[in-house]
This record gives sequence, C-alpha cells and structure tokens, in this order.
Amino acid sequence: MDDLAFATGSFRIDLAVLAARLGADPEKYYRGLGQSEMSVVAEDEDIVTMGAAAAQQILDRSGGAGVRTLMFATETGIDQSKAAGVYAHRLLGLGPNVRVVELKQACYSATAAMQFAVALVARDPSEKVLVIASDIARYQLDSAAEPTQGAGAVAFTVAANPALLELHPANGVYTDDVMDFWRPNHSTTAIVDGKSSITAYLDAVAGAFDDYLAHGGVPFEQIDRFCYHQPFTKMAVKAHRHLAARAGSELDPAALQAQIEPTMGYNRRIGNSYTASVYLALLALLDGDEDLTGKRVAIASYGSGAVAEFLTGTVADGYRAGLRRAENEERLTGRTPVDDAAYLALQRTAARPDPSNFETARQTPSPFRFGGVRQDQRVYEPTA
Ligand code: HMG
Repeated sequence: MDDLAFATGSFRIDLAVLAARLGADPEKYYRGLGQSEMSVVAEDEDIVTMGAAAAQQILDRSGGAGVRTLMFATETGIDQSKAAGVYAHRLLGLGPNVRVVELKQACYSATAAMQFAVALVARDPSEKVLVIASDIARYQLDSAAEPTQGAGAVAFTVAANPALLELHPANGVYTDDVMDFWRPNHSTTAIVDGKSSITAYLDAVAGAFDDYLAHGGVPFEQIDRFCYHQPFTKMAVKAHRHLAARAGSELDPAALQAQIEPTMGYNRRIGNSYTASVYLALLALLDGDEDLTGKRVAIASYGSGAVAEFLTGTVADGYRAGLRRAENEERLTGRTPVDDAAYLALQRTAARPDPSNFETARQTPSPFRFGGVRQDQRVYEPTA
C-alpha cells in the first residue's frame, strides 16, 4: 500500500443527541458501543463524491501516472449496471486507458480489491492500482442499529516498493452463507439481526485467522498491532479478545487493548463506513504518535453474509513522510454538527418521491457534488 487517504460526510451528529430521542443512556453508545458521534452525508454527497474526494488527495500528491486500474468497492450501489468508479474516473480526470470495475461483498470487498491489485502489480510492477472504498451505512430510524450508522470513504494505491505498508503473501480467507445482515434491492436501509451478526463476525474472523496460520502466517504473538473492521469500535475489542483467547495469548487485558486502541480514533467519530472501516482503522494507527516503522500490522476484514480475510503487512521505512495527519484531523473537526431535526431531514432525502428526476440542495464543501438525477441520469460536478 503506497498511499492512503479518506473523506467523509460533511455533517456529524453526537450520539448523545440520538440517545435523547431513543431514550437511551448516552454512555451505552459512548462506552457500550465505543462510539462518540457519526458522520452524516449532505444532500449533495454520496459514495462517488466521497470516494473521489479521498482519491483526489492521492492524485494531487503523485498524479495519475501508472494508474491503469480503478476498483471501486461499495455496498451502497447507485446503479445495477454502471460502476460508481466510472463517475469517479471522470471527476478525477483519469485518462481513457484505465480499467474500472465495482466490487461488492458487504464490508469486505475493499480487501478483495487490494488482493486483486497486488496480483496486477506483481504481473507488472510499473503499474499502480487505485482502490476506492466508499459507503453510507443506513438502518431503520428508531432501531437498535441506528447509532451504528456512519459514512466514509478511503482511497489507496497499491504499488511496488510501497511507501506505507508492505503486504505479506500469507493470508487467510473464510466464507459462510449466513443471514446476519443484507440489503434487498428495494430497500434503502439494511436488514440486520444485530446479535447474530456479532457472532457471525467473530466466527468468520476466527475462521480466517486459522486459515492464515495454515497458509504460512505467523503466530498471534508475532503481530504487533491489529486493525479490525469496526462497525462500532467495541466490536474490535470483542474480536481481539476472541482471537487472543483462541490463540492462547498470555497478554493481559491492558496489553491486548494497547494493540488495538490506536486503530479506533477515526471510526469512533465517523461511525460505520462499511468497506472503508478497516482501512480507516489502519489510517488512524499510522497517523498516531507511535513510530511503527518495521512493525507487523494485521488487517482483519469482515463483510456480513459472510466473508472474512486476515492478512498482515510491515510498516515501511519513512512511512511518516506519506501521512496527512493534520489535514485528516481538520477533515473531522471541520464537519458541521447537526441536531436531531436536521439529521432526520437529511436521512429523509435518501428516499425521493420521484427518484428519476430531482435536484439536490448545494450543501457540500467537498471538491465534488452530486447534483441530483435528470431523466434517470446521475449528475456529478466539481463544486468550485
Ligand atoms: P443493542 O441491543 O441496542 O445494544 O444493540 P446492547 O444491549 O447489546 O448493548 C450494547 C453494549 O452497550 C453492551 O456491551 C452493553 O452491556 C452496553 P457488551 O456487553 O456488548 O460489551 N451498555 C452500556 N454500557 C455503558 N453504559 C450503559 C450501557 N447500557 C448498555 N448505560 C447492536 C447493539 C450492535 C446489536 C446494534 O446496534 C446493531 O444491530 N447494530 C448493527 C449491526 C452491527 O453493527 N453488527 C456488528 C457485527 S456485523 C458487521 O460488522 C458487518 C456490518 O458492518 C455490515 C457489513 O458487513 O456490510 C454491520
């Protein structure tokens, strides 16, 4: 992984505001789920505008030279045929000689994209692959899942001699056909069996870890930090304790927590960003105070339904020169806080009375905006 950037919705809601409407103790969300707030998208933001805004940061720094593939990972699909990445490709000004494709398997598909990218780069080390993972998590209002929504995108490049993380060949994969979470085509919100989704996640990550060990992976004790998919950050705590117990780790609870705590800073404030979440965990870790040069970091990716993958990488020499720590913090603090009424109004714009024709209000400060739909064609434009 050569570069990694993120974007998110331009609004945020404190989970105490939600707790007041739902009649819950805010501590249930702050401590029980490990979430402080969540991002909310503006009317004129969607997966394309967020994804392109993340990728633009990478292209601004290194240009598009060498990029011959763009993979767009999402489970918030905007069309049954056309890949969201094709819109992003135009907004980013990439040339015509690029293959663009969309990938889906709940929150997992960005990791599949990364592995496919590694194969392309292994075949031709002069190529770079741009991966965008972008999602908006929406559940039924007033449900137990409502505080675990969120929105965000990451973009990363996969290249030979990477500046951030050198991925190791060993990996573990796991698939099981379970109905813990899914979103039928007719619905704008996911259907979820919350408690069974937690069990499905733990089983799948453990299955992927066992497969990783069976395919040349190193033992648990040789891994320094662990980035888990974080639908809410407490889930990473549950997953890490589960893996540690399975591996017979002798680390005490504080030492185990130290292996995951620095991965949670962004997800705690953004909420669930589905495909982007595990890479936001990695970005928060890299952006942290600790010098991680040479450390072995695990990526534990999970997508409901269910597919999981476990792999590791070594943090590259000089990685800190490639970070955007201050800009990333500004991106989060720059979001506008909304009250419950404003949040509910934004949520309602997800379902339009006439989805074939509508215009959106100008709200986003992002470089790109979603202007609406004209005769069933989505309109995207630069904001400036
Ligand atoms: P719930 O039933 O409202 O919450 O739903 P709960 O009663 O289980 O409480 C949650 C935690 O808060 C518990 O902690 C409580 O003890 C604690 P735990 O025992 O689990 O450690 N608590 C308190 N703590 C402090 N002060 C208090 C207090 N009260 C309670 N006063 C649930 C929670 C996560 C099930 C719900 O929000 C939900 O359904 N969310 C959506 C599903 C989800 O996120 N599942 C995660 C695994 S599946 C996954 O990661 C895939 C996914 O990202 C989709 C994809 O792949 O595309 C979702």
